[in-house]
Amino acid sequence: PTKKLKDGLLSASSPEKHKEPIGFDVNNDKSTVSITVVGASGDLAKKKIFPALFALYYEDCLPEHFSIFGYARSKISDAELRNMVSKTLTCRIDKRENCGEKMEQFLKRCFYHSGQYDSKENFVELDEKLKEHEGGRVSNRLFYLSIPPNIFIDAVRCASVSASSVNGWTRVIVEKPFGRDSESSAALTRSLKQYLEEDQIFRIDHYLGKELVENLSVLRFSNLIFEPLWSRQYIRNVQFIFSEDFGTEGRGGYFDNYGIIRDIMQNHLLQILALFAMETPVSLDAEDIRNEKVKVLRSMRTLSMDDVVIGQYKSDTKGGITYPAYTDDKTVPKDSLTPTFAAAALFIDNARWDGVPFLMKAGKALHDRRAEIRVQFRHVPGNLYNRNFGTDLDRATNELVIRVQPDEAIYLKINNKVPGLGMRLDRSNLNLLYKARYSKEIPDAYERLLLDAIEGERRLFIRSDELDAAWALFTPLLKELEDKRLIPEYYPYGSRGPVGAHYLSAKYNVKWG
Ligand code: NDP
Ligand code: BG6
Repeated sequence: PTKKLKDGLLSASSPEKHKEPIGFDVNNDKSTVSITVVGASGDLAKKKIFPALFALYYEDCLPEHFSIFGYARSKISDAELRNMVSKTLTCRIDKRENCGEKMEQFLKRCFYHSGQYDSKENFVELDEKLKEHEGGRVSNRLFYLSIPPNIFIDAVRCASVSASSVNGWTRVIVEKPFGRDSESSAALTRSLKQYLEEDQIFRIDHYLGKELVENLSVLRFSNLIFEPLWSRQYIRNVQFIFSEDFGTEGRGGYFDNYGIIRDIMQNHLLQILALFAMETPVSLDAEDIRNEKVKVLRSMRTLSMDDVVIGQYKSDTKGGITYPAYTDDKTVPKDSLTPTFAAAALFIDNARWDGVPFLMKAGKALHDRRAEIRVQFRHVPGNLYNRNFGTDLDRATNELVIRVQPDEAIYLKINNKVPGLGMRLDRSNLNLLYKARYSKEIPDAYERLLLDAIEGERRLFIRSDELDAAWALFTPLLKELEDKRLIPEYYPYGSRGPVGAHYLSAKYNVKWG
C-alpha cells in the first residue's frame, strides 16, 4: 500500500461508495497511475504541482508504477521539462537526505508532450505515449487542469474523448476559478458533465488541504470541551481573516477579472466557514461531510451590500521605498475598481447560529501575512472578577484562535491570576504551537490534495451542489457591485486596510482580532 494507507491515516474514513471501474486500487501490482499536468509550462505547475508530486515521491506516497506527463503548447522536450522542473523543486524536501538522488529518480519518471488544448489528435498522441508507459497494466489516469479557465472545457473534451483510461479510472482535477457567478459556474458544471461524471471531477480548493483546516473537524468533534460550546449560546462571533503583505505580483491580469471576493472569500474563507459551522456529519465519508457543508451553506443569508466593505490598495512610500498601487500593475486597467480588500458580515439562519455574526476579512498588500479563524466567546455571566477588567469587559472573554498560517497554532486565551499575594488577573494563552510540538514538517496543501485525488478520496474536494450554494450567496452582491461600479475605499500598501472594516465590525459589536 502507499505510505498514507500503511500509516493508517485514512483508517477513519469509510470505504469508497462510488462506483469505479476495475483497477481503482492504486497499489495493485498490475495497475499504474499516469498523472498529466495540463498547462505544465505555467506558474502553478512549476510553483506547486511538480514540487508536491516530488514531495509525495520522496515520502514514498506514490504508487510503484506511475509516470508524470507535462502537456502544454510550448514546444519543449522531455529533457527541457526535466530541466525546468528541477529548478523549481525547491520544496520542503530540499534539505533532506538523498534529496538530489531522489530528484534524479523522480525526473526520470517525468515526460512531456506538446499539444494544443483543443486538439483531439494531440490528445490521441498523448494517449499513445501514456499507453507505452503503462506497459499493458490497468491504467488509471489523473489529469490536472492547470490552465486558464477559458480553455478548461476544450481540454476536458479532448482528454476525455481521446485519452481516457479504457480499463481503470480517469479523474480530472479542476483549478479555480469555477466561474464568476452562479450562472457561469452552472454553465461550467454543465459542460464538464457532458464529458465526466461528477465523481470524476475533483474541484480543488487548496485551503481545504491545509493542515489546520483539516484539523478543524478533529478539534471540534474529538474534544468534549469544544463541541458543547459550538453555538450561539456561547459564541459571540467568529472571524475568518486572510491577509497578504504583498500585492497581485504579476497575477494582476487574472485578478482584475475576479477581485478579492471571488479570489478568496467565496471559496477559501467560505469553505472554512462551512467546516466550522456544519452539523456533525454521519461519518467521515466524503458524501456525509459534503452533505453537511451544503446544508449549512444553504442556511446562510445572501450577502447584503450594507454588510460589505470594499477597498483597493494605493501606492505608499515607507523608509524611502515606494510600494506600488494596484493600478500600477501593467496588466490592470488604470481605472479599475476591482477590490483587493473586502470585509463582510455573514449570518447563518439556523437554530445553532441564529444571530451570530460571522465576519470575513480578506486583503492583499496589508501589513501582515496570515490566515486565521478567531472564535470570540460570550462574557461570563455574573463574573466575580469583572472589576479586574475595569470597563473593558471584552478583555475578559475567552478567544480561541486557529492560526492556519504562518506559524500554525491553536491557542485559547484564558484569564488567570497573576502569581503573588494580590488578586490581579492576567490574560494568557494555552498555546499549541505546531513547530514546538511537532518536529515533522507540515506538508504543502497540494501534496495532500494530489494524494487524495490519486486515492479517490473526495472529502476535501468541492461537489457541484456546494459550489452552487456558495455562488448563490455571493452572486447578487457581486452583480450589484459591478452594475453600480461602486468605488472601493483606498488604503495605503502595507496598512491595516480600510477604516470601513472597523465600522462594519463595530456595527455588530465586534473587534477584529
Ligand atoms: P498560467 O497563466 O501560467 O497558464 C498555464 C499555462 O496555460 C501556460 O503556461 C500556457 O502554456 C497556457 N496558457 C496560458 N494562457 C493561455 C491561453 N490564453 N490560451 C491557451 N493556453 C494558455 O496559469 P497558472 O499556472 O497561474 O494557473 C493555472 C490555473 O490555476 C488557473 O486556472 C489559475 O486560476 C489557477 N490557480 C493558479 C494559482 C497560482 O498561484 N498561479 C493559484 C490558484 C489557482 P502554453 O503556452 O505552453 O500552452
Ligand atoms: C490563491 C489566490 O487561491 O490563494 C491567490 O488566487 C492567493 O490570490 C493564494 O495569493 C493564497 O494561497 P496561500 O496558500 O499562499 O495562502
